[in-house]
Amino acid sequence: MNAPFIPTPSLIDVARRMVPRYTSYPTAPHFSPAVTAETYGGWLEKVRDRGEAISLYLHVPFCRTICNYCGCTTKAALRDDPVRAYAASIHDEIALFAERLGPVEVSHIHWGGGTPNILPPDCFEALVRDLGNRFRFRPDMEHAIELDPRHVTAEGARRLADLGINRASLGVQTLDAAVQKAIARIQPLPVVEASFAHLRNAGITAINADLMYGLPLQTLDTIRDTAERVLALEPSRFAIFGYAHVPWMKAHQRLIDEAALPDAVERIRQAALAREILERGGYVEIGIDHFALPDDALTLAQDERRLHRNFQGYTDDAATTLIGIGASSISRTPWGFAQNAPDNHGWRRAIESGRLPTVRGKAYEGDDLLRAAVIEDLLCAFEVDLAEVAARHGASVDGFEDDVRRLAPLVNAGWVEVRGSRVAIRRHRHEIARVVAAEFDAYLGRGGRHSTAV
Ligand SMILES: C[S@@+](CC[C@H](N)C(=O)[O-])C[C@H]1O[C@@H](n2cnc3c(N)ncnc32)[C@H](O)[C@@H]1O
Ligand code: SF4
Repeated sequence: MNAPFIPTPSLIDVARRMVPRYTSYPTAPHFSPAVTAETYGGWLEKVRDRGEAISLYLHVPFCRTICNYCGCTTKAALRDDPVRAYAASIHDEIALFAERLGPVEVSHIHWGGGTPNILPPDCFEALVRDLGNRFRFRPDMEHAIELDPRHVTAEGARRLADLGINRASLGVQTLDAAVQKAIARIQPLPVVEASFAHLRNAGITAINADLMYGLPLQTLDTIRDTAERVLALEPSRFAIFGYAHVPWMKAHQRLIDEAALPDAVERIRQAALAREILERGGYVEIGIDHFALPDDALTLAQDERRLHRNFQGYTDDAATTLIGIGASSISRTPWGFAQNAPDNHGWRRAIESGRLPTVRGKAYEGDDLLRAAVIEDLLCAFEVDLAEVAARHGASVDGFEDDVRRLAPLVNAGWVEVRGSRVAIRRHRHEIARVVAAEFDAYLGRGGRHSTAV
């Protein structure tokens, strides 16, 4: 009998595949209203009984202006009033879940957005103190915040440090003037340099820089120039995000001229160039889109197979429970995911009536946790031992037969290696990790529209 014909895919076709980013599994399009405030409340009580440390994510969905490329859940607030009103509701939400959790230990806090540094200083301080009064901050707790460099001042950085902030992520994206104009985010190099200096002077030395590729008018030259200039600022970590163009979800992205967007081939080249420059600069590739210095905690976690993927990207935080606070935030517990009302009004209404603001989620069922572990291994280590993961979950490796068979074209192309029960993505093709992970996603094709793989 003839061997079956296995096509060899082109890299462009694979890079163009629309697949999830797998910051959770199952992914958000498969959440449903079956998970209610009562379900989530029950999970919180079980978390309290386990007595393990938890992590907190606080979402601040406001920015002074909206950048054309932005894919985050945020809106423009020119005045402080809506931000203050939002902070007041956050206190009420904290009270609601603290009541169910009790004074558990906290290992990690992350403020994201939007632009968390839009919170007036007194509001931010009151929120940190509220959390500190209700929970036990671990002495080595990581307290991280996403900052817009255009709004980082010397005074603001000092206040953040005084409140225990010990890591900051700065959105740099690009330093090219023409690209900045095309994305409506004017942020020249001196602004970025000043934000690094203010943070360091205040004692916040763990600084991450976010860069992007695939933006309108971006070229290999502008990518090189930006990467080299930011390398000179010596951040501890980089995140390199490919611009996710999803105008069907984010209407303001229609302001981006699609004709000025780099095509799939160019995106692959830009991602490869950024990676090459950062690796030459001494940074180690962490998962699909992060880079860190060799002695960074994330690099050590990767070396010791303790790296995890969560909604913020990659982390060395081992907490199994992450409480999402604020409109649209997603919480992860050992029993499943729960998401808050996505709009500020619905979220506030629930809190004002004394209810947890959960509107949907996903309770783990069937082989969800098994597949989540396979996908996390692929995205964190670029390899997985299916038999080992199956054994850990009391399952049989035979359940992956179809998934492994679907990998054949990628194996044929020489990008993925399958040896026994071990699946590994070859080093020169790490960029297709999301596509490999997608072959193990039992929900794919059942709804949800995603961005391109590269
Ligand atoms: C929520 S933003 C927070 C940072 C802060 N608001 C700022 O812009 O400086 C986090 C990061 O997400 C990335 N990002 C935003 N929109 C994106 C998109 N459409 N595609 C890919 N990455 C995106 C940017 O690199 C940004 O720095
Ligand atoms: S990229 Fe940052 S500053 Fe720009 S709109 Fe998005 S969250 Fe706001």
